[in-house]
Amino acid sequence: MQILPIAEYTIHIGPVGEALAPLMQQLRYSTLFVLVDEHTELHCLPRIRSLVEDAVVIRIPAGEEAKNIQECQHIWQQLLDGHADRKSLIINLGGGVIGDMGGFCAGTFKRGIPFIQIPTTLLSQVDASVGGKLGIDFKHIKNCIGLFRNPQAVLVDPQFCLTLPDRQLASGMIEIFKHGLLHDVDLYHKLLALESLTEILDEEYIGRAIAVKREVVEQDPYEAGLRKILNLGHTLGHGVESYFLDTDHPLLHGEAVAIGLIGELYIASKRLGFPVEELTRIERFVKRWYPEIAIPDEARGAILEIMAQDKKNERNQLHFSLLKKPGEPYIDCIIEPELVQEAITYYNNQLSVPV
Ligand SMILES: NC(=O)c1ccc[n+]([C@@H]2O[C@H](COP(=O)([O-])OP(=O)(O)OC[C@H]3O[C@@H](n4cnc5c(N)ncnc54)[C@H](O)[C@@H]3O)[C@@H](O)[C@H]2O)c1
Repeated sequence: MQILPIAEYTIHIGPVGEALAPLMQQLRYSTLFVLVDEHTELHCLPRIRSLVEDAVVIRIPAGEEAKNIQECQHIWQQLLDGHADRKSLIINLGGGVIGDMGGFCAGTFKRGIPFIQIPTTLLSQVDASVGGKLGIDFKHIKNCIGLFRNPQAVLVDPQFCLTLPDRQLASGMIEIFKHGLLHDVDLYHKLLALESLTEILDEEYIGRAIAVKREVVEQDPYEAGLRKILNLGHTLGHGVESYFLDTDHPLLHGEAVAIGLIGELYIASKRLGFPVEELTRIERFVKRWYPEIAIPDEARGAILEIMAQDKKNERNQLHFSLLKKPGEPYIDCIIEPELVQEAITYYNNQLSVPV
């Protein structure tokens, strides 16, 4: 079991029971609630059920579509019906949707009640559950309403990810890869040599990816500066993700970030001299683990429009977080739309499928 202290709580990496059992003894709560979706109720709840026998289980539908104010009302209602008070405890057992929305509901109910995050997807284990950002989508804007608030603890058990489909596993892996590229070059090299997808569930890799995020958010909890480096691959990636969301073949978040990474590192090669040989290695990694998706010409306008709304932008200029080389990130790089267009063309040209 690895234990990483962060702010006033701890992240436990290892078998969930080993961490949860002592916590259930230590924490003095009045009533206990566990938030699940239909997949985590089936695959994950049985692993902790004996430790939370007295809990009221709150169920929501799976997926991003559920991350909205109506589902929050359902959760708040269940808390009221279960006589929750400020000493109640909520355990959020699920992926990033459960963690973000359960944390948001806990953080706002009676001005805030304690909660524990038990992330059950790779993406939520190495990214969403660390850093205190909570929220829901509103009017099709992701994470539009939310707050910063820390849990009592985060319990990361990679074994939960064994029931995830490969696509979800690969989607989460890109955040580990990104954390390595940003701040743990040895981890980045180890991932380049990965031979099977399940190797990524190594506690060491997950722990090292979390350690990078922890270090960054500890230095900049409210994203005033340094934390922006975590947006590497996400500026273009978010544009691509949003565009495909409205098509009949939406991409998973990590799949869009993988595309964003190639485009943005091409931009970095032009603007900051990011080594072309590293870019080639990263392209090989992305081709090995992610579907090859061409960006059609008609998508370019929509992608740039979405990027124009990016929260990092200032004075109508596109701001990117880029790399000069692995381990050397730069924030607030101003990039003109023409270079973004060139990056999309570059991305399409390196594919082995036709555009
Ligand atoms: N707060 C943050 O800092 C932060 C950072 C990154 C992403 N996010 C948010 O995280 C969300 C995405 O998270 P996600 O990718 O985990 O999506 P998700 O929560 O929708 O989970 C993906 C799917 O996997 C299922 N699932 C969860 N655990 C499972 C398991 N162990 N076995 C089988 N199926 C399982 C879920 O039911 C769902 O269908 C987005 O809403 C995003 O905005 C937040």
